[in-house]
Amino acid sequence: GLENRVKIASNRLPVSVSVNDQGQYTFSRSSGGLVTGLGGLKGADLEYTWYGWPGIEIPHHDLQQVTTKLREEHSAVPVLLDQQLAERYYDGFSSEYSSSLIRTSLKSADSTVWPLLHYQLDKVSYDEDTIAAYRKANQMFADTIARDLKEGDLVWIQDYHLMLVPELLRQRAQEMKVSIRLGFFLHTPFPGEDFFTTLPSKNEILDGILGSDVIGFHTDEYRRHFLDACSEVLGLRLFDDKLKVKDREVKVQTLPVGIEPSDFHKRLDKDEVQEMIRSTKKNFSGLKILVGVDRLDYIKGIPQKLQAIDEFFQNHPDQVGRVVLVQVTIPSRANLELNQNLRTEVQELVGKVNGKYGNVNYVPVHFLYKSVSPVELTALYAAADVCFISSTRDGLNLVCYEYVACHDHDCSADTPPGVLLLSKFAGASSTLKGCLLVNPWDKTRCADAVAQAVQMEPSEAMKRMKEMRSTVDQQTSFAWAVSFLRALDQKEQEAVDSS
Ligand code: UDP
Ligand code: G6P
Repeated sequence: GLENRVKIASNRLPVSVSVNDQGQYTFSRSSGGLVTGLGGLKGADLEYTWYGWPGIEIPHHDLQQVTTKLREEHSAVPVLLDQQLAERYYDGFSSEYSSSLIRTSLKSADSTVWPLLHYQLDKVSYDEDTIAAYRKANQMFADTIARDLKEGDLVWIQDYHLMLVPELLRQRAQEMKVSIRLGFFLHTPFPGEDFFTTLPSKNEILDGILGSDVIGFHTDEYRRHFLDACSEVLGLRLFDDKLKVKDREVKVQTLPVGIEPSDFHKRLDKDEVQEMIRSTKKNFSGLKILVGVDRLDYIKGIPQKLQAIDEFFQNHPDQVGRVVLVQVTIPSRANLELNQNLRTEVQELVGKVNGKYGNVNYVPVHFLYKSVSPVELTALYAAADVCFISSTRDGLNLVCYEYVACHDHDCSADTPPGVLLLSKFAGASSTLKGCLLVNPWDKTRCADAVAQAVQMEPSEAMKRMKEMRSTVDQQTSFAWAVSFLRALDQKEQEAVDSS
């Protein structure tokens, strides 16, 4: 079995720590798809430890308290605050130094790697200092995990912040003479090889990832791009469906994540949620509701979505007064200047559309810049006639899975069948059949697709929803986690190979 052998690492822990004015610590669920996807582990009957950044700098005298709580209540180990680091930097600059290091390394991940992986070359900033910080932070992760390594461990590294960790940890395990299995999953796209190779540290990054035994991507396209890069940069080729890296075999898999649809079904059965759906429908009575839920991030194509809505009202004046967009925008990486500028741009566009088509009694775009609770989110998804995802690039996009799950069972007469408008540049476009695919850059056709979505016959919407539903029900985050860990588990592999 997998018991007690699984270690997960991601930049951010599933809970983020914050502190109030009275110095009390609170723990809240971290935002984004990675945490949702790994939520599937909870369903698996296994114990695991999760290594990651707690989200804030914790002063030395509170470290013990926070670390204990993280361990006991969330099986989590904070990376910034490990004993070794505290000792190493004890002389005065310890936590300040380490947290500024983490901040710089986040900066390097978010301002170099993130835009590169999402084809935003003009937003990539690269310099030797930031890559050095990235290296150091990855080293810190590797060191923290290495401290707890045991023979037979399965270590599963997540996402673009930690691409050097697999190789660093493999070397550490070798020195320690413990045999472990290392997995890496990328939650973002992997861009075309010509694009990826613009990165000065391309060799180091590829070597870092290739320290793994099993590597996973959401789509065949990302997997192919990665293999192309390995071939172009390192001259590696697939052999028997595996990469041969020196004397090791590395398996490269396509394995898209999912959600736990039952979490949404359970919530939909609650009176509180049903009541919220009814009141939302009442508030927007006579209107078709479009919903958007995105982190405030330029990859989500929020300006493109607003431009498409503008064009839709422009080309379909009969729809003015009949359609609203409720755009939930989750604050994210708010320290990045790019995101601050984006927020201004988005708010201006919202103002423009509302000014052009709204009146005292009708506001076409409702813009919320905040996180929403799972209950509110479920009710909003369920009440919405259409979900509009306009990402210019997106690893997979779980919001659309969640929308589908909320139109999943015949819970009440208030829930419309639901139509999904999905960007062809989101990974989910290759998994969810039955959506209306859009190109967010083509605002005229996007506007047509909005018109088609709001006017779709319920029978067609239901047919399409049924198709998407079968994917969302089968491709759960639980199935994803178990299948990755099985692929990683050598013993399981031997059993498969010998059968
Ligand atoms: N979500 C969140 N906070 C909110 C509203 C939603 O964390 O206030 C969740 C949402 O339920 C979904 C995730 O954020 O599971 C977004 O995942 P997605 O894959 O769509 O995009 P990502 O944010 O990872 O780029
Ligand atoms: C995306 C990334 C995750 C990240 C999440 C939220 O889903 O793939 O690695 O955790 O966004 O971003 P944040 O910067 O808040 O961790």
